[in-house]
Amino acid sequence: MASLSFVNVCKTYKNGLTVVKDFNLDIKDREFLILVGPSGCGKSMTLRMIAGLEDITSGELWIDGQLMNMTSPQSRDLSMVFQSYALYPHLTVYQNMAFGLKVHKVPKDEIEKRVGRAAEILHISHLLDRKPSALSGGQKQRVAIGSVIVRQPKAYLMDEPLSNLDAKLRSQMRVELAKIHRELGATIIYVTHDQVEAMTLGTRIVVMNSGVIQQAASPNDIYENPVNKFVAGFIGSPSMNFFPVWVARRGEKICLEFGKNKLIANEICSKRLVEDGYVGRRVYLGIRPEDFHEEGPEEQKILFDVEMKEVLGAEILFHGRINREEICVRLSPNVKAEPGERLPVYVDMDRIKLFDMDTEQNIIYV
Ligand SMILES: Nc1ncnc2c1ncn2[C@@H]1O[C@H](COP(=O)(O)OP(=O)(O)O)[C@@H](O)[C@H]1O
Ligand SMILES: [Mg+2]
Repeated sequence: MASLSFVNVCKTYKNGLTVVKDFNLDIKDREFLILVGPSGCGKSMTLRMIAGLEDITSGELWIDGQLMNMTSPQSRDLSMVFQSYALYPHLTVYQNMAFGLKVHKVPKDEIEKRVGRAAEILHISHLLDRKPSALSGGQKQRVAIGSVIVRQPKAYLMDEPLSNLDAKLRSQMRVELAKIHRELGATIIYVTHDQVEAMTLGTRIVVMNSGVIQQAASPNDIYENPVNKFVAGFIGSPSMNFFPVWVARRGEKICLEFGKNKLIANEICSKRLVEDGYVGRRVYLGIRPEDFHEEGPEEQKILFDVEMKEVLGAEILFHGRINREEICVRLSPNVKAEPGERLPVYVDMDRIKLFDMDTEQNIIYV
């Protein structure tokens, strides 16, 4: 297995468009590294540069201490799974999975062992004699993943391998990929635009936007300490709510004011806001949907107009508006409010985030 290192990697097209900018990252052996970000942010491009399918315009890519910029894709010893998978229709599942190994002249009993093991991990042992035409979409995708994991490359590269599957299969495959990572002890670099996949699979997440790394950190750290408003809004579902608020001093207290709502900042936030000169200025207040509660002290209360509710069994999502800003609140199924009503909710002030109006950087780290 392998470690990888990017040093100031850039990718610019002939038309002058830069799609990956100054990418710096060290990927450790056995990491399950997730590249996540909105469509078009340069995830696939980054993966294709690792694979050698795209030239690097400037900067360096190192794999296991060797400079790779000029190395051919075949000589990099990496395996790649794409979003759309291709199986050979005239070959059985076994033959499909064995194909790459045969090409590389791996001995027959070794092929049998590896295909058998991969089939077991992916729960497709009973399908080995079938042709692809007799498989469901999810089964085909497993075979495609199988034909990649039978190889023992330095690292596996996966570009949205689950995005063509329905929701149930996706979540099953998510669990299986996590197991595969554990069992193979493999270095995996995995591209997705799905933040649930990112949060559940990654040992580390790299959030990208417009070709630039926004943050590289553990899933928990990304969630709890997003570096900026973009990361805070991208990771988490439903998304974090953002409100422009005034920072005001009211007697001893520092308040966050918007419309008729007035929230009293806790000690840590107050100290930071005062020290960094935010009193009298506007900031973005960020609150995740789960950080509202049905009960609480008066100074944590806000009122919002319910427009729609989604009853999800274990919880209810209330969508509505506060002043003109949209808001989504996650509450327990006991809450009886209906669309058209004005609902009081209480903000967990120890969990709020605050972002600078201009730079959109996080002001409060915990
Ligand atoms: N051959 C090309 N010429 C110019 N621009 C390209 C080319 N291929 C991709 N791009 C652009 O590069 C950007 C990054 O693409 P990509 O890495 O595929 O994004 P994603 O994060 O969705 O995987 C996009 O804006 C895309 O339009
Ligand atoms: Mg892509």
